[in-house]
Amino acid sequence: MDKLIINGPARLQGRIRVSQSKNAYLPLLAAVLLSDRPVHFSNLPELNDIRTMLKLLRNLGVQIDLAGAHATLSAAQITSWEATYDLVKTMRASILVLGPLLARFKKATVSLPGGCAIGTRPIDIHLQNLELMGAKIELHAGHVEASTAGLRGAHLKLSFPSVGATENLLMAAAGAQGITVIENAALEPEIDDLAHFMQALGVKIEGIGTACLTIQGRDLTTSGNFQEVTYQAISDRIEAATYLMAALATKSHLVIENVDPAHLTCVLDFLQKMKAQLVIRPAAKEIEVLPSNLVGTSLETSPYPGFPTDLQAQLMALALTAEGLSVIQENIFENRFMHIAELRRLGANIELKGNIAIVHGPSVLNGAPVMCTDLRASAALVIAALAAQGTTEIQRIYHLDRGYEHLARKLAAVGASIERVS
Ligand code: EPZ
Repeated sequence: MDKLIINGPARLQGRIRVSQSKNAYLPLLAAVLLSDRPVHFSNLPELNDIRTMLKLLRNLGVQIDLAGAHATLSAAQITSWEATYDLVKTMRASILVLGPLLARFKKATVSLPGGCAIGTRPIDIHLQNLELMGAKIELHAGHVEASTAGLRGAHLKLSFPSVGATENLLMAAAGAQGITVIENAALEPEIDDLAHFMQALGVKIEGIGTACLTIQGRDLTTSGNFQEVTYQAISDRIEAATYLMAALATKSHLVIENVDPAHLTCVLDFLQKMKAQLVIRPAAKEIEVLPSNLVGTSLETSPYPGFPTDLQAQLMALALTAEGLSVIQENIFENRFMHIAELRRLGANIELKGNIAIVHGPSVLNGAPVMCTDLRASAALVIAALAAQGTTEIQRIYHLDRGYEHLARKLAAVGASIERVS
């Protein structure tokens, strides 16, 4: 298995370009199933999760032509309605094919995603609300077997603003007869991106950007419902903030390109509270990071527009380099602190009390062998390794490959001593 060898402390210099968003493209790819017309996506990031979703769509019969980072997909002829365990177990987002398959083909069999490192991650909100729309859901031998005589519009109120449930229900509503209202919908920018793509297909959606989405459905079993569409997902706000924090942790001067600062308002506010020197240029889609002497902060993760749980681990690594205490509370997932044990191997002084981590900064960090446990924990280890004195070997970086396109290449290009070895 590949690993990363990082020599610190690093001084980064130059410009890093952020890729398009994994968590935007995964639902966009699933939404291709709604239409029998070709869809053209540009700048698909080269990530394992994207490759897994493309493989899943191919298994369903979607025609996919790749030309570099551009892809043309056509779901005109679907030959299967089953997302099998071998794919779902490697990528939970496979569950996102459930909504569009039910909407257009009235049936779907999707392996239950099961838990993952960061939590049990149930899909009850997805299933309960699909049933309210007229889906018959049976759990059988580790699979969700779903069918319907035809989805019906419904007035839905999510018990939690689940990102995946909002995406599944948004896509299901496109093929429901009548109007569907989704209250307490997730507000993440990736939801807006999916809704805008569905509007480009021809779906009538109101309330985009609010917690109340209204969708006018139609019969998708007939052909010619939608347009041929060319679309590009938003840039990856989590990748952008990860590189922001890597620059701050190493007191570097770096420009992050292809970032939408409006997607990171809460994060940028917290970093500036920590005395990060940032020059934010929305029109240029750039954020310039200047060498900064940081102070600790206190925050808790919450659904968008709050502080993203996907940046909690990276912020913790950054807090190790700040002066003073930082108190970090994880409210979204029940087991998203596995990076703490690995950070402690580098010398991190972190106390854990339930879902609250108390970070004593600055911690003297020294290189050591560490192990990735999940995608964002891996990014935290990279940040800490760049700030640490000496050599860090990061193992099990297949976790990292799920969500960071060419990470070693991007960091090496701005001066990091980082090498990927088999
Ligand atoms: C999406 O996961 C992201 N994944 C996650 O990013 C992200 O951490 C998460 O949203 C929260 O922002 C993708 O977009 C592919 P949720 P998702 O449904 O949709 C509970 C990464 O690092 N819940 O909003 O699975 C759940 O257990 C990944 O890129 C239910 O109880 O997140 C969790 O505690 C990791 N029942 C909370 O809601 C449900 O039916 C948030 O889950 C659904 C969710």
